Amino acid sequence: MTSPTELIPAPGAIEGPMRRAVPLTPGTTLWAGPGTETTERWLRSTLGAALGLPLRPGPDDAPDSLRLRIDGTLAPEAYRLAAVADRGVEITGGSAAGVFWGAQTLRQLLGPDAFRAAPVRQGGTREIPHQIIEDAPRFRWRGLMLDVARHFMPKDGVLRYLDLMAAHKLNVLHFHLTDDQGWRIEIKRYPRLTEVGSWRARTKFGHRASPLWDDRPHGGYYTHDDIREIVAYAAERHIDVVPEIDVPGHSQAAIAAYPELGNCDVVDTASLTVWDTWGINPNVLAPTDNTLRFYEGVFEEVLELFPSRFVHVGGDECPKDQWRRSPAAQARVEELGLAGEDELQSWFIGHFDDWLSARGRRLIGWDEILEGGLAKGAAVSSWRGYQGGIAAARAGHDVVMCPEQQVYLDHRQDAGADEPVPIGYVRTLEDVYRFEPVPPELTPEEAGHVLGTQANVWTEVMENQQRVDYQVFPRLAAFAEVAWSSLPAPAVRDFADFERRMTAHYRRLDALGVAYRPPAGPLPWQRRPGVLGRPIDGAPPLR
Ligand code: ACM
Repeated sequence: MTSPTELIPAPGAIEGPMRRAVPLTPGTTLWAGPGTETTERWLRSTLGAALGLPLRPGPDDAPDSLRLRIDGTLAPEAYRLAAVADRGVEITGGSAAGVFWGAQTLRQLLGPDAFRAAPVRQGGTREIPHQIIEDAPRFRWRGLMLDVARHFMPKDGVLRYLDLMAAHKLNVLHFHLTDDQGWRIEIKRYPRLTEVGSWRARTKFGHRASPLWDDRPHGGYYTHDDIREIVAYAAERHIDVVPEIDVPGHSQAAIAAYPELGNCDVVDTASLTVWDTWGINPNVLAPTDNTLRFYEGVFEEVLELFPSRFVHVGGDECPKDQWRRSPAAQARVEELGLAGEDELQSWFIGHFDDWLSARGRRLIGWDEILEGGLAKGAAVSSWRGYQGGIAAARAGHDVVMCPEQQVYLDHRQDAGADEPVPIGYVRTLEDVYRFEPVPPELTPEEAGHVLGTQANVWTEVMENQQRVDYQVFPRLAAFAEVAWSSLPAPAVRDFADFERRMTAHYRRLDALGVAYRPPAGPLPWQRRPGVLGRPIDGAPPLR
């Protein structure tokens, strides 16, 4: 039996637990009120399957039952879980999503076996203590950004990450689908994006200063059907998938596929290949009508596949050198009456801002897109620190806080010599736990523009699922609590209590098969001796 004080993320209020127990048995029935079908399906397919509980349909007044209902008087994602002796368990949510988050809490109350793929024993009775939990998220955007461009994650791995997100009550997958090192989404009208752009011949192993190469080709992409499956699987778990197609920088894979997209008057773009190393790439899109029409075609297919209100257009790290040297780009600057090539960036983003708005979507981009002004509905992912987010909120734009100094999970999580491929800042579990998404400089009204927060997982040094797991966990558990729970100010957050609850949470992660970083450091097989991952002495922390 699990104590409710072992929940992660911590809930708002708990009445109890009392000594009396509420059993769940093979005879326990499930009543799912109108609108609660996603949770009904999840309970049978996941929780019931893990514990050997059939959860057969039953009436709403059976004493030994699990009941789900929506109560519109609760906040949309809020829930109330009442486990009452002789009355079974009732989960009431403000919406279908609220009921689903309540079911995630129920799973934690049932102990680590509830996180297995199959029962360790058949149809055993489970008990949870009599208690009432009332809970609601602090933020409506509780995100994880997954970079599947630097290293491809096959579809099943993405579905697994959606399950891991759901278990932590995270509700936005920011899907980084394109970059210099790979194009990962089928675009039917431009087949070379995946024929050429989804594979690279070799890959730098470790930091870009490393002398090591993995000489095997690397690649892969999602078909339209794969994407539909991912989006549907996410929707079943009340997770939005926000696609990112990065423009006008981070585009070498696209240019390798269609050389006319690049600045071909100053670079031999026909000789470019999908990039095999890391860093900021000079080969950016040419500011031509052809490029705009091409990407409108890309976005048309993206909009068909992703129902998400927000569409991410990247906009980060776009060196302007080629535009400075390109007669065609300079002619464009002239024709548009711009002050210089720097303004081509905001012209680019502004075009897609209008284009997406006209289609009922909202543009979101990295904080560089603020330079040059933004349309009213556009939102900003604040990654270079808090400043972009503060400026955006003050200008009335919505913000997702994801400062690299705090929540970039590619950064090393310990200063020790054993960290595999250690890059970036040292950001420990405690550092992430003390991350505060809303900076104190913001007035309450400005703070209202902070939609929420996300942790970003850039995968340059994560070549497989185990490496992703190692970087993401356990820190994602701390991040989930920051995003969901109403925690006190960072300095007075009770990290000792979080660590105590993590003891139970590690057992859940074990049952889920997550290759997390153990508290005492990496296991021998998790180490990567000899791989250069460290930043060069004196240089800023690098990814
Ligand atoms: C970023 O990390 N370049 C958004």
